[in-house]
Amino acid sequence: MLNEKVSKLINEQVNKELYSAYLYLDFSIYYEQQGLDGFANWYMVQAQEERDHAMLMLKYLQLCGEKVTLDVVAKPDKEMNKLMDPLQFGLEHEQYVTSLINDIYAAAYEVKDFRTMQFLDWFVKEQLEEEKNAEDMIKKMELFGNDSKGLYSLDTEYAARIYTAPSLVL
Ligand code: FEO
Repeated sequence: MLNEKVSKLINEQVNKELYSAYLYLDFSIYYEQQGLDGFANWYMVQAQEERDHAMLMLKYLQLCGEKVTLDVVAKPDKEMNKLMDPLQFGLEHEQYVTSLINDIYAAAYEVKDFRTMQFLDWFVKEQLEEEKNAEDMIKKMELFGNDSKGLYSLDTEYAARIYTAPSLVL
């Protein structure tokens, strides 16, 4: 059995990760409409990764014998008016997710739940990568996004992203 607060936070994180998937799906739809299929692909893959994050949280709760409760997934409500918007929203969102993971870690630390801390280590590392990716995309867009050839080249780069299953297996 997990500590009640730890269990509740992980359960809520299942929902937050599903929301992340939904948000990135929305970004993918936006870019597809703009004719940027590479950016659309990048966020489609990202949405798949977020679903994986949700499933890992869910599976961990089940392994610990906890009941998982699914909640309503909020509607993505970011207003996107220019190509940079999703990238900036993406970075802000990942910074927020990092704070959520840190909160769960802090709750586990408080009750000496070393098992959950070890489980969360993967997510702590993953968030470093998530924030770095989001920052890099903003930087590249600032550098090359205003030039049509530069934008085409970025779109081609993002078209090459392929989905890979998470390295964490439960
Ligand atoms: Fe599930 Fe993008 O962090």
